[in-house]
Amino acid sequence: MLYMLTALTRAVSRSLASCELTWLNREPINIELAIIQHTLYEEALAAMGLRVISLPEQPDLPDAVFVEDPLFVVDELAILTRMGAESRRAESESLAAAIAPHRPIRQIAPPATLEGGDIMRIGRDIFVGLSTRTNAEGILQLRHELEPLGYRILPVEVHGCLHLKSACCSIGDGLVLANRAWLDAEALEGYTIVDVDPREPSAANVLRIGNAVLMPAAFPHTRSDVAREGLDVRTVDISELMKAEAAITCSSVIFETA
Ligand code: GLY
Repeated sequence: MLYMLTALTRAVSRSLASCELTWLNREPINIELAIIQHTLYEEALAAMGLRVISLPEQPDLPDAVFVEDPLFVVDELAILTRMGAESRRAESESLAAAIAPHRPIRQIAPPATLEGGDIMRIGRDIFVGLSTRTNAEGILQLRHELEPLGYRILPVEVHGCLHLKSACCSIGDGLVLANRAWLDAEALEGYTIVDVDPREPSAANVLRIGNAVLMPAAFPHTRSDVAREGLDVRTVDISELMKAEAAITCSSVIFETA
């Protein structure tokens, strides 16, 4: 059977300006530009060989474009998370119908909170950030679902940023791009850290697909560092989405389909 990578995305909500913000001050967002940037992001995913399933806008859920947080998918199943941000809890429900044809669904239950941005999967290792959005019970419930399937759940303390994947992301081949100031780097034992450029603390969030890495255009210094690892680095301008505390990975959920 031939498998292909699919990216689930959702159109930008016109209410995006009312998004959750934790570490950033609110700035005016040019919604028309945000919509264009999101379309270019989807085109960049397609150019990397992904089939993109683009869901319609959720007008009353300002952060609904950030589909990575309410839904986590592995080969065996999909997990609807329970968001730490209360205003975002209805987003998980809205994604259930989209993932149901592809995976059996499990659900994180109260008092757990868990957001997909806090989950970094590298093969069978699943690192989970303890952050302002994900609690210990969330990690416990994820462990209950995934350890029987052969995954190893590895908690990581996160501080100073929104999610674990704000602080670090896999760039493949045992390498993790990271800002060590935002996480307990000892948790990444066995992996080699590639440090973000000190001028670009938010540059660790990138998406590796095949030999290519997609990252925001805003981080040219870290881009050069990643390119030095022999990777085909591509960039997309997501400046308006970044005002909503977004990064590259949060606007898609990527999984294999037949
Ligand atoms: N605005 C993205 C978030 O705070 O979840």
